Amino acid sequence: MPVTAPHVLIVDDEEHIRRIMSIMLGKRGYRCTTAAGGEEALKIAGREGADAVLTDLMMPGMDGLELLKRLKASDPDVAVVVVTAFATMETAIEAMKAGAYDYISKPFIEDEMAIVIEKALERRRLIDENRRLKKEIGERGDRGTFLGDSPAMRRVFGMIAKVAETKATVLITGESGTGKELAARSVHMNGPRRDRPFVAVNCGAIPANLMESEFFGHVRGAFTGAVGAKTGLVAEADGGTLFLDEVSEIPMELQSKFLRLLQEEEYRRVGDTQVRKADLRVIAATNKSLPQEIEEGRFREDVYFRLNVVRIEMPPLRDRREDIPMLARHFLDDAVKRNGLPPKKLTPAALQTLSEQSFAGNVRALRNILEQAAVMSDGEHIAPDDLFFGTQLPAPPPARDPASGGLPAVMLPPGMTDLKAAVKQVTAEAERVLISKALGSVSGNRTKAAKLLGVSRRALITKVQLYNL
Ligand SMILES: Nc1ncnc2c1ncn2[C@@H]1O[C@H](COP(=O)(O)OP(=O)(O)OP(=O)(O)O)[C@@H](O)[C@H]1O
Ligand SMILES: [Mg+2]
Repeated sequence: MPVTAPHVLIVDDEEHIRRIMSIMLGKRGYRCTTAAGGEEALKIAGREGADAVLTDLMMPGMDGLELLKRLKASDPDVAVVVVTAFATMETAIEAMKAGAYDYISKPFIEDEMAIVIEKALERRRLIDENRRLKKEIGERGDRGTFLGDSPAMRRVFGMIAKVAETKATVLITGESGTGKELAARSVHMNGPRRDRPFVAVNCGAIPANLMESEFFGHVRGAFTGAVGAKTGLVAEADGGTLFLDEVSEIPMELQSKFLRLLQEEEYRRVGDTQVRKADLRVIAATNKSLPQEIEEGRFREDVYFRLNVVRIEMPPLRDRREDIPMLARHFLDDAVKRNGLPPKKLTPAALQTLSEQSFAGNVRALRNILEQAAVMSDGEHIAPDDLFFGTQLPAPPPARDPASGGLPAVMLPPGMTDLKAAVKQVTAEAERVLISKALGSVSGNRTKAAKLLGVSRRALITKVQLYNL
């Protein structure tokens, strides 16, 4: 139900008819405005919009039929009901042909009019709802198509096909935007659990203090704010697949509970003594190096071994450039369809330009470029000039320093000799520059910047504070 009352615009040259209709519809909860003629009606409709218009046909100046056509031209979904005397029944039929929702004849019966308006508004509501759903589906985009013809991707597909049949835990690694989530879905969809739930959880997006109860659920009163009992994601994924995205973000304290889940398929809700069983296939993904996380004391080695039963490494896009044309065409067609645009084509030069990019953001970056090009380009051809590389972080060609034998120039304080300190400093500087660039390219939106950089939002915020950005 709309939150505000539907707006009905009443158009009639006779004052008393406008008044009667307003009263009749007003008491049924509609918001009514009135106009004495077509021009005035168009102004109101243009200014406030109208959900339904109830118009007389015979009016001096712009008549009802003309008004109907003009209204339909600017909003094809507006519900127009024409009111006509018997003498003009022919015109009523003409009005129906021109797109009127219905007509009522004068003198009209109150209930009849109300029912016609109610139906017209209901139809309008359904059209809006339908459009909203379509848009929602459209924005989600095509997540199913997993493309690639390069030897590297063929190997990936081969592994997925094999492992999908089993219940083995899979660890998917690779840079940001290489298709880790797509690979995880593909493992699920090609296996015997395809009709069971696939529960994807971005571990970097759940606040650490809520994570245990999000995953395992809690009993009533387990902690302040736990008003009711909660089942949790593990129970939700029971019988299906649990996808732990950004698995490195699971806090140390909680990792032992995951170990138990992986080893024994057992877990307990927060505040509960009862041990529960879960039949899960677990897939984990990360763009971090888990061995390094282990070394730095942020990840448990035993959990890593449990996750790393089958490893799928997603190759970066720059190592499989032969896939770029196919992917680019697919993303373009997809964007064009979702945005209701006429078909567009990439020129050979544009394909060439794309194939030469380094794509720090991998397939996601390629996809973003094509989305923008689809929307921003004018003609049916997309030329190199229509491609915007602003959303990805192009690795600028490093400045050559002749003094260091052609190695990239690095700014270090003079006299610095400590290798570890130097590496730290260079890394920090690179981090600071990359982060501020990323933030700049997405107008400071931290969620987007984190995505672009392939780090969790939490990690990004910490760095932003660290570098005072
Ligand atoms: N091989 C592919 N074929 C078609 N689309 C792809 C392919 N690989 C990635 N994509 C698309 O690129 C985007 C990024 O993919 P995905 O989310 O799976 O990457 P990711 O590795 O999980 O990235 P991140 O580490 O940033 O989470 C998605 O829109 C996905 O549909
Ligand atoms: Mg992902």
